Amino acid sequence: MQKPIRHFLSLRDVSRQELEALLEAALELKRGEPAGSLAGKTLGMIFRKPSTRTRVSFETGMFQLAGHAIFLPADGTHLGRGEHGESLADTARVLSRYVDGLMIRTFAQSEVEELARHASVPVINGLTDLLHPCQLLADLLTVREEFGPDLSGLSIAWIGDGNNMANSWINAAGMFGFELNLAVPKGYDPDPEILARAQSESRVRLSRDPSEAVAGAHVVCTDTWASMGQEKDSADRARAFGAYQVTESLMEGARAQAIFLHCLPAHRGAEVTTEVIDGASSRVFDEAENRLHAQKALLLQLMA
Ligand code: CP
Ligand code: NVA
Repeated sequence: MQKPIRHFLSLRDVSRQELEALLEAALELKRGEPAGSLAGKTLGMIFRKPSTRTRVSFETGMFQLAGHAIFLPADGTHLGRGEHGESLADTARVLSRYVDGLMIRTFAQSEVEELARHASVPVINGLTDLLHPCQLLADLLTVREEFGPDLSGLSIAWIGDGNNMANSWINAAGMFGFELNLAVPKGYDPDPEILARAQSESRVRLSRDPSEAVAGAHVVCTDTWASMGQEKDSADRARAFGAYQVTESLMEGARAQAIFLHCLPAHRGAEVTTEVIDGASSRVFDEAENRLHAQKALLLQLMA
């Protein structure tokens, strides 16, 4: 019997137990233990926004699993031709006849959902304005490497924009039961539905005060103040986020063994100082590497 198609549009598409198994599998892959194979399988990767890590980690991951990946910048396909182009629905139907899985990076979460609705192969969310679940796999893996497999007793601080990364951390907190303290300036709050759901499951608190959020934290996270597509608001955002920079003095308010995470790309001197991101507590390059291991585990789970 054929396996039902599973998509990964949000962390919420898998159970906590499945996520824990996925992180364990990612660690085995990282240790070089024998993996399954995706020989003969192809991943199509649609990009409506730029990428360094997501593209290269998925493409390398498919190669290492003996499969193949096709980079599909939307502008180079009929998707990018606006009203003269081709719908997401037809694109999904056509690509499903060629490839064994699709990854898409785009703007609205509804576009990822539309692609999944019409695809007959698994669809992976490679970042939307709302969520970045693949990044969370890597972030949780990095946290797990540092603090062990039981994440439920941890305290995580999020400083800055209530963006796709913040929303994804909120989902993770709800699922794993760890404490999440967010410090976000007024007007830049995370998604209210995602927040309310996680608050019914775990200790997820939203404040305006970075020092309050980092107090006792095991992990301090931030991200760019202007996400892809928001570049024209950069000056306004820099003003609104001025007090939300992650500095050494802010890190001193966290636990002595606290680590710093950032999904990258980072802007030294804006959301984080050079001393912090290049300092002893930073794990940002392990985090970037973990994209590869975590996504290989995901690809095997969805496509093998
Ligand atoms: N963190 C991340 O998703 O990086 P890219 O934008 O380079 O893919
Ligand atoms: N919040 C950032 C993440 C980049 C990986 C963005 O959406 O641009």
